[in-house]
Amino acid sequence: MKFENRVAVVTGAAGGIGRAVCRKFCEMGVAAAVTDLSEESCEKVVSELKNAGGTACAYEMDVTRTESVRNAAEKILSDFSKVDILVNNAGVWKHANRQRNKFADMPEKEWQWILDVNLGGTFRVTQAFLKPMLERKYGRIVNLGSIAGEVGLPGYCDYSAAKAGVILMTKSLAMEVAGENITVNCVSPGMVSAEDHRTQPTNGTWIGRTGDRAEIADLIVFLASDDSAFITGVDYTIDGGRILGPRFCDI
Ligand SMILES: NC(=O)c1ccc[n+]([C@@H]2O[C@H](COP(=O)([O-])OP(=O)(O)OC[C@H]3O[C@@H](n4cnc5c(N)ncnc54)[C@H](O)[C@@H]3O)[C@@H](O)[C@H]2O)c1
Repeated sequence: MKFENRVAVVTGAAGGIGRAVCRKFCEMGVAAAVTDLSEESCEKVVSELKNAGGTACAYEMDVTRTESVRNAAEKILSDFSKVDILVNNAGVWKHANRQRNKFADMPEKEWQWILDVNLGGTFRVTQAFLKPMLERKYGRIVNLGSIAGEVGLPGYCDYSAAKAGVILMTKSLAMEVAGENITVNCVSPGMVSAEDHRTQPTNGTWIGRTGDRAEIADLIVFLASDDSAFITGVDYTIDGGRILGPRFCDI
C-alpha cells in the first residue's frame, strides 16, 4: 500500500478497531492523530504506537459535541499542518442497561444518543475536516457502518437506522466531492472479536469464525491509501459471509 507523507485522524481510536487502524497506519508510515472521549485513553495508544516507531499524538474529542470536535480539529491541523485521511470510527451500540432494546420500549433518550454518536458524530467530524481537504484537493474519508445498517438487527433499531444513515451519507458525500480528489467510502463489519489477534468459532458466519480487528483495519487502511483513488461511494461488507443467508439452510 502506498502513502505519500500522509496524516490520518481516527475517532474512537482508543477502542478495539480504532487502535488496530492506528497500529496499521503507523506500520505504513502514516502519522496518526489518535482521538477519543478521554485524552488519557488516547495517550495509552500513542505510547504503544511511539514504542513501535510510529508518529502519533493524542487528542480528546467527543464527537457528540461540536465545540469539542472544533477544538480538537484546530489543534490537529495546527500540529500536523494538514489532514489527508479521516476515519470516522467512533461508535456505540450497547444501551445503558442491556444489549438489546425492544422498539416498543425504547427510550427516546437512548435512540437520540445512538443516532447522535454514530450518525451525528460522523457528520460533525467530517464537516470539521472536509474544508481543509477541499482546499488541498486531497482526501480519503472512511466511515464505519455495520451489517446492522445493511440488513437490520432486531433489538437495535436505533443502531441500524444510524448505520444505514452513515452508509447513505457516504454515498451522497462521495458524489459531492468526487471532483475534488476526495474519496468517501464505508466499511461495514459483522461479528468482530472483542480481543486483539483472536477469533472465535461461530455458526453465524459462512467462514465459521468471528473477524479479527486487524482484518477490519486492513480494509480501512487500504481505502485510506493512495492506491484506492478510483474507489468512492462504496459500502464494503466485511463479515465472513454473515449476511449471505442462513448457513445451515441448504435449499
Ligand atoms: N466490533 C464489532 O463487532 C463491530 C461491528 C460492526 C460495526 N462496528 C463499528 O466499528 C466501530 C468501532 O467499533 P469497536 O468494536 O472498535 O468498538 P469499541 O467500543 O471498542 O470502540 C469504540 C470507541 O468509540 C469511542 N466513543 C464512544 N462514544 C464516543 C464519543 N461520543 N466521542 C468519541 N468517541 C466515542 C469509545 O470511547 C471507544 O473507544 C464502531 O463505529 C462500531 O459501530 C463494530
